[in-house]
Amino acid sequence: MKGCGQTVETKRWTINEVDEAAETLKEGGLVAFPTETVYGLGANAMMSNSVRRVFEVKGRPSDNPLIVHVTGFEQVKDYVKVFHPAAQELVNMYWPGPLTLVCKVKLGLFAQEVAAGLATVSFRMPDNEASLRLLKKAGVPAVGPSANTSGKPSPTTYEHVSHDLQGKIAGILDDGPTKIGVESTVIDISDPEQEPVILRPGAITREQIKQDLGIEVHYDNHLLEPSDTPKSPGMKYKHYAPDTKVLMVKEKDWSAAVDWVKENRLSAGVLAGPAVCDKVRADTAATFSYSDNSVEAATKGLYAGLRALDEAQLPLDVILAAAFPEENLGVAYMNRLKKAAAQKYFNE
Ligand code: TXA
Ligand code: MG
Repeated sequence: MKGCGQTVETKRWTINEVDEAAETLKEGGLVAFPTETVYGLGANAMMSNSVRRVFEVKGRPSDNPLIVHVTGFEQVKDYVKVFHPAAQELVNMYWPGPLTLVCKVKLGLFAQEVAAGLATVSFRMPDNEASLRLLKKAGVPAVGPSANTSGKPSPTTYEHVSHDLQGKIAGILDDGPTKIGVESTVIDISDPEQEPVILRPGAITREQIKQDLGIEVHYDNHLLEPSDTPKSPGMKYKHYAPDTKVLMVKEKDWSAAVDWVKENRLSAGVLAGPAVCDKVRADTAATFSYSDNSVEAATKGLYAGLRALDEAQLPLDVILAAAFPEENLGVAYMNRLKKAAAQKYFNE
């Protein structure tokens, strides 16, 4: 099956075949796995060769560290030097779940490529039965970057992973579409003296942490001031971008956007909730509707929609995508959409 590090056939495993997937992962094969956020590209975090291969098949810059996926906090205790006072509370409240914690770790535990030269490693326990069974059965911690080609929208279905990585990895554990649709919240708690800092917004929000635990968390400066260098290496790269140009549209601007499309005779794709899609369908070339008009549905459908419209049969000049207010889950949604749209609104 394997020759020169190339896998010829990528298997599709169901949850009933998780044992075979786990054995493959443990022995060094690359296994894509489902989580509640997006699909991850799993490799044994202790094996340099396998971790290096993850960077290769994704085309990922080598200075971008990987998240280590674990089955619980007890496992993390073996790896971390000193915990932040908020660590236990955050874990009790949100694990398993879409919260990744950046911690200062003991040296030499993981393959050195995992930390990409940093003194910290990030950990997360995914809220997905298939992936927890995979990790438990494999008995090793697994790196898990999103299972897409670097720079493309993250995969939220088996088909997306297969589109990007077919023939390059050993297999994909298929558990249907993911529930949330954007990657986990990354929080830096590596300095016990400092307040936790959100490096990447996700479904666990700053407002929610304050409300649930009374803990104040701040945003990394680059999230407030885009010209600032992000503390999380991955956030500096252009991300989530389909090939087609994307422009954001505020709710009040849809009529003006459609007029602009008609005046310029553009072939436009629209990514929005059913209320907008129903209104604009007659005047646009393609629509991808979220299941309802909520920000949760928009977040769940964002990457699938960008991918689908990018591959629409009629080539599109532009994708118009619905903007949402930047509060609660809207912060994570807009963080991803703004990158896909290179920060541009249709009328600016
Ligand atoms: O939801 C998720 O987090 C998904 C699923 C598969 O678990 N994984 C994911 O991994 O999004 P990835 O590699 O695509 O994104 C990890 C992000 C990158 O922006 C990376 O720079 C940052 O986390 N990161 C990882 N380790 C870090 C560290 N030690 N310090 C700062 N940032 C870190
Ligand atoms: Mg990613």
